[in-house]
Parts: sequence; structure tokens; C-alpha cells
Amino acid sequence: MSTKTVRVLVVICSTRPGALGPTVGKWLTETIGPRAVDLGVELAPIALGDLDLPFLDEEEHPSSGVYRHEHTQRWSAMVDAADGFIVVTPEYNYGMPATLKNALDYLGREWAWKPIGFVSYGNTSAGTRSVQHAKQVVTTLRLVPLGSTVALRISDAVKEGRVRPDAALVGAAVGVLDELVRLAHALRPMRERVRPGLPPGPLPGSYTRRLVPDDAPEVTVLQRCCWLDEALVNDTLAIPALHESPEQVREWLATWHATGLWRDGRLLGMVRARRTDTDWHVGRLGVVPDL
Ligand SMILES: Cc1cc2nc3c(=O)[nH]c(=O)nc-3n(C[C@H](O)[C@H](O)[C@H](O)COP(=O)(O)O)c2cc1C
Repeated sequence: MSTKTVRVLVVICSTRPGALGPTVGKWLTETIGPRAVDLGVELAPIALGDLDLPFLDEEEHPSSGVYRHEHTQRWSAMVDAADGFIVVTPEYNYGMPATLKNALDYLGREWAWKPIGFVSYGNTSAGTRSVQHAKQVVTTLRLVPLGSTVALRISDAVKEGRVRPDAALVGAAVGVLDELVRLAHALRPMRERVRPGLPPGPLPGSYTRRLVPDDAPEVTVLQRCCWLDEALVNDTLAIPALHESPEQVREWLATWHATGLWRDGRLLGMVRARRTDTDWHVGRLGVVPDL
């Protein structure tokens, strides 16, 4: 599992003056804030009303990634930088609000393979029909909806413009965050972008690319797996690759030209090379033991 920080956009959908959405959004971020700190999650609240997104006005299909308007480019950058989403949504006429549908329609690949959770509110249905409506749309964008949800029945959950203290609701909200973070980590390999033109590897779906210092955790694990056999065969642990820390690996990755063989975010093999005058030094040739 990755140890990188998870950035979660908390999206407030309603834009009406005096809307309940901001109140529910504030309750949510305050409620899950401490858990977010524990999990290394950065919560970024955003109100769709602040984005100034008109009804979709881009000429090209969003899958092209060609965005002429600044508002689209800004929204694209925000969604791209996020690892997951919690949508705070009302139910309007048994469905999601048009603001949410419009914000989803604007973009394409920025959403793909990221988890999305819902905190809904409404009258008798507590906004759940809005969530069901949204779920069928978000899956088209390769967003992955959570099973956990929070649903507030306004008459029970809200009093004098505030969300009433309720241990069950707090538990549900923390449950949404927990599941979102697990999925965000699990989906990371799916999000790794294979740039067109990268040389394919020997296994279907695999590809090679240059290793960079940020690959240090994966390289460290691969080294320790690979050189264990050599340690056993030679009856010695005096093998540098077995002892290097992620920090030391990070250092040499900055100076050697190392190439990795990847599939679905897993580093399957590597080799490194470095030129000194007219000599090429080649080493650290390793492949995961199971392959
Ligand atoms: C246009 C509109 C449609 C609504 N439709 C529903 C509905 O289908 N189901 C429901 O439970 N509540 C419905 N409501 C009531 C909302 O749940 C309630 O007004 C809520 O506060 C709306 O969220 P907001 O204040 O963040 O806009 C509707 C409200 C509006 C303004």
C-alpha cells in the first residue's frame, strides 16, 4: 500500500441562496477532520457555486482533454490533483442537482479510477434517490462509488440550521472516509498513466520506463526480494542491495540511468546503467521472484 498523502475533494453541490449544503459540508469536514489527520488525508472543501462553471460550453468532447476555457482548466487541475471525492448533495426532484451533473460532464480522464463517496440529505428519502441517480452516471466516468454512505433526513438531523449531534451519523461519516482512503490506495495502480509510445514489456500490459527518485519505495522492495536468493546461495548478507534504505535508493536513482519494467503499478524488474568516460557500468538487474 502506498504511503503518499491522499487528497480528498469535499464537493458541496447546492448553490441556492440560504442552501443547507454548506452547513452539511461544514459538519462533515469537522466530523471527519481528526480521522483525516490520523489517516494522512488532506481534505479540500470546494463549493461548486464558487467555480463559476457555466453549463458545459467546451467545443471538444471532454475525453480529448482539450479545454479552451479557463474555468474548465481550473476545474480540471483541481480534479486531477485529487485522489478521491466526497460529494455533499441534496436531492432535487428525485435526482442529483444539475450543478453536480454539469460539473461531472465537464471532464473525462481526471475522474478515472478514483473513489467517490456521497453524503446526501433530503426529506423522506434523505437524498438517497439523488445518490442512486449519481451512481449510474459516475461509473461511466470510471469513478468508483463507495458502498458506505451518509444520508441525513433533514427533519431528524437538522435543527435551527445545524446538524444535530448524533453518534450514528458521526460513525457513518468516518466510515465513508475510511473506505474512501482504502479504495484510493487500492486504485492508485489503475491510475498510473501509460504514456503512448512507451516501449512495451515482454508480458501483455507491461511497459518499461525510466525510474525516478519517487520510485525509491518500489525499488527498495524489489531489491530486497531479488537479492535474498543470492544471499542464501552464497551464505552471506554482505550484499549492498539488501541493506540500502529507501533514502539511499532515492539518492542513486537521481544519478544512475535506471529502467523499470511495470505492470498495473507493480515494478516487475529493473536494471541500472551509468557512463564513466568511455565505459558503461551495468548492474542491479533484478526480476520479482514469482516471475
Ligand atoms: C428544486 C428542489 C427540488 C427538491 N426535490 C426534492 C426531492 O425530490 N426529494 C426530497 O427529499 N427533497 C427535495 N427538495 C427539498 C430539499 O431536500 C431541501 O430543500 C434541501 O434543503 C435542499 O438542499 P439545499 O438547501 O442544499 O439546496 C427539493 C428542493 C428543491 C429546491
